[in-house]
Amino acid sequence: MAASSSSFVFAAALLVLAAATAAQAQRETKLRVFWHDVVSGGPNSTVAQVAEAPTTNASATGFGAVVVIDDPLTDGPNLTASRLVGRAQGMYVAAGKDALSLMMAMNFVFAGDGPYNGSSLAILGANPAERAVREMPVVGGTGVFRFARGYCQATTRWFNATTGDATVEYNIHLRLD
Ligand SMILES: *[C@@H]1O[C@H](CO)[C@@H](O)[C@H](O)[C@H]1NC(C)=O
Ligand SMILES: *[C@@H]1O[C@H](CO)[C@@H](O)[C@H](O)[C@H]1NC(C)=O
Ligand SMILES: *[C@@H]1O[C@H](CO)[C@@H](O)[C@H](O)[C@H]1NC(C)=O
Ligand SMILES: *[C@@H]1O[C@H](CO)[C@@H](O)[C@H](O)[C@H]1NC(C)=O
Ligand SMILES: *[C@@H]1O[C@H](CO)[C@@H](O)[C@H](O)[C@H]1NC(C)=O
Repeated sequence: MAASSSSFVFAAALLVLAAATAAQAQRETKLRVFWHDVVSGGPNSTVAQVAEAPTTNASATGFGAVVVIDDPLTDGPNLTASRLVGRAQGMYVAAGKDALSLMMAMNFVFAGDGPYNGSSLAILGANPAERAVREMPVVGGTGVFRFARGYCQATTRWFNATTGDATVEYNIHLRLD
């Protein structure tokens, strides 16, 4: 009796484990969006620098500057030719004194006719912007992204050093369990 009840418990535990593994595997999601810093757009600019880096004993890395963004997110690299899927709303802070490192704190707020309309993702992490690939944590989400956690990898696809305009590809890997 004791043996059969403990083997039942063991079998039930295996079932629960299998179900959890299957659920976790089903709920892996990847998405890719293109993020556009529009600095030179005049009234259509999506970037507002709200605090300058100190000029006295200034660092070469702009340490102390704060920039607020409401950047378009598109499904392709070309801002004008691609579909708008949402906006990156938040800020970045030049937080590296000796090396360029931006502290990114932003929400990807999805809109439009796609499946993510009304959902959002929260991204918070260090962005050493001169590196080819920067990895940042995804710390949460809403709507279809409830309980999201994961990471994103950002790669600069285009940068105009004269204007500061930039297009960055974000590859986002999520688990929703
Ligand atoms: C701002 O956007 C409007 C609407 O898309 C456009 O007509 C206008 O030319 C843009 N202005 C600039 C300075 O880019
Ligand atoms: C700038 O740095 C110099 C040398 O370290 C120091 O003497 C001076 O007080 C600093 N100035 C300010 C405003 O922090
Ligand atoms: C982006 O799309 C616009 C409009 O479709 C086009 O004129 C422009 O050449 C494209 N830019 C690039 C870099 O492909
Ligand atoms: C997106 O969702 C909002 C409500 O959350 C709805 O009002 C709107 O019509 C939706 N947009 C599209 C294009 O489906
Ligand atoms: C950068 O922007 C300047 C000013 O608008 C423009 O003249 C130049 O062609 C742009 N360079 C690139 C690589 O897009």
